[in-house]
Order: sequence, then C-alpha cells, then structure tokens
Amino acid sequence: MTTSDLSYIDCSGLFKIYKAADLEVVALRGLELNVNRGEIIAIVGASGSGKSTLLNILAGYDFPSAGTIRVGNFDLLQMTSKEIVDYRRHEVGFIWQETSRNLFSYLTALENVELPMVISGTTESERKERANDLLDMVGLSDRLYHKPSQLSGGEQQRVAIAIGLSNQPPLLLADEPTGELDDQTGHEILELLNKVNQDLGTTIVIVTHDPAIATSVGRAVAIKDGKTSTETTREISSERKLGGDTTGTEEFLLIDSAGSVQIPRDMLDNLNIERRVRVDVNNGKVTLEPGD
Ligand SMILES: Nc1ncnc2c1ncn2[C@@H]1O[C@H](COP(=O)(O)OP(=O)(O)OP(=O)(O)O)[C@@H](O)[C@H]1O
Ligand SMILES: [Mg+2]
Repeated sequence: MTTSDLSYIDCSGLFKIYKAADLEVVALRGLELNVNRGEIIAIVGASGSGKSTLLNILAGYDFPSAGTIRVGNFDLLQMTSKEIVDYRRHEVGFIWQETSRNLFSYLTALENVELPMVISGTTESERKERANDLLDMVGLSDRLYHKPSQLSGGEQQRVAIAIGLSNQPPLLLADEPTGELDDQTGHEILELLNKVNQDLGTTIVIVTHDPAIATSVGRAVAIKDGKTSTETTREISSERKLGGDTTGTEEFLLIDSAGSVQIPRDMLDNLNIERRVRVDVNNGKVTLEPGD
C-alpha cells in the first residue's frame, strides 16, 4: 500500500476568516493536516487557537475561506448541497464540545442513538439492533432507558460516542470530549475512543486543550494561532526531543506545503539567530548557523 492509499484527510493552506461587523478574525491561517485512514490523533491547542473551527470544517458544518481540504473521496470545497448532506450523514460522526448539545433531553439513551438512523432511513429492526450493540460497546447496556438527566457526565459522553457511530461513519470527530469530566472519567473516555479505533477501524480526530491527551493517542499535532506547528508521536527516543519533558514521546516540527518550517523562538534566541540563517547539509544532517 502506498502513502496516498493510506491518506484519508488532507488539508493544505487552510484559511478561515470570520467577519463579525467590521472586525475580521483569522481563525485558521494556512493550516496543514494529514491523517491516515484508521489513525487516532489529537489536535492540541490553547483556547482560541482554531480547534473547533477546524473540526466544524472537517464535519462539513462550516466552510474554509481558502485552501484545500479533502476527506476520503470528498473535496470539502467543491461539494454540492446533496453531497454535503450525504457527507454529514454517512462519512462523519461528531461529538460536540458542549455535552448537552449531543443528546436530546426528552429521549432515552436508546432513542438518542436511534435518532440519526431514523433520519438516514435505516429500518426499525436494524436500528434497534445497532443501537443496542453500540450502547453495549460503550458499556451502557444497563442504561438503555435512562434519559440524559439520569446519566452521569461520563455516561452522557459514552452515549454521545454511540450516537456519533450510529450511521457507521469512517470518521469520528470529537471536540474536547473530556473537557467537562474529571481526570479518571476523562481517561476512561479516551480508552473507549482507542477501543472504537481498534475494533471498528474508525479514523478519530480529537481536539483538546489538554496536552496530557497526547500520550493517550498515536500522534498529537499542536495547533497555534490557526496553524499546525509541531507533532508528537509515541515512538521512544528520549534524546531527540525538542526540549519538552513528555517521556516516551518524540516531537517533530512540521513542514508546510511551501516547504516552510517554523523554528521555535527559544531555539533561535539560544543560537543568536535573528533575520537570516546559513543552511548546510553535513553527513546527512541539516545545520543552521546565524547568517547576520
Ligand atoms: N462564528 C464566529 N464568528 C467570529 N469569530 C469566531 C467565530 N467562531 C470562532 N471565532 C474566533 O475564531 C478563533 C478560533 O475559535 P475556535 O472556536 O476555533 O477556538 P478553539 O480553539 O476551539 O477554542 P476553545 O478551546 O476555547 O474552544 C477565536 O478567536 C474565536 O473568537
Ligand atoms: Mg472549541
């Protein structure tokens, strides 16, 4: 299998500019992101860094201002309104940042999981069976007839995951799925997402402000000011870290489609590099020296 066969999400030079009254906010500025089919990744960034903006675009709820974005066979900039409906219904499952937005308060857990299947026209017997199976998979087979107010926060998130998976999408997007949970419950939700990824092969993208999540998934990409900057993988090679202290992980700088690399300011300051660098290749390594 070649890299292009594996490539599932491909975002390049993505911009999102919001206009509110006379004010323009650049929420994404040239973001690059590649995710392989069957991967589970976290996108980690501070509040306002553009995480929800990116996730809403990936979900087909919002559209970028410029750039390219492909998910599977869908070109998200070129979709007809019929394709958008098809994409949202069958390609992606979405878990919202606000827990309450994921569930209808007057429906039971079982009915909540069945609802997206009612909308997509799944037969009654099939949707009952699938809703039962999904709630069993997320560990809630004894809470089928509970309404959201009768469930804990962690249980509500489990139902939300089952809802997101109800139409068997190849992609599951989760916006801060552990944001409103305590550490232990949050950890269990991440374990469940890893299990879904392994058992169903679903590609999963989690966005979060919590850097600790990076150690729970295969790969974590940092987002800063609407741009992906560095990436951490779980491969162990402690001496090659970029100054971080996350034991057992390795951090890389990302190269964008124009070939640009953003070198952290503290590294440049340590080397007294200001406006220019001299670049050399020695013994297979690239070296940078002050050029001023
Ligand atoms: N609908 C909108 N109209 C105008 N500006 C917006 C809109 N949505 C988001 N923004 C702005 O875009 C930027 C990125 O917002 P976004 O919601 O993507 O951040 P986030 O990383 O998800 O933050 P948080 O961790 O707080 O959820 C912010 O500066 C925000 O104010
Ligand atoms: Mg957000």
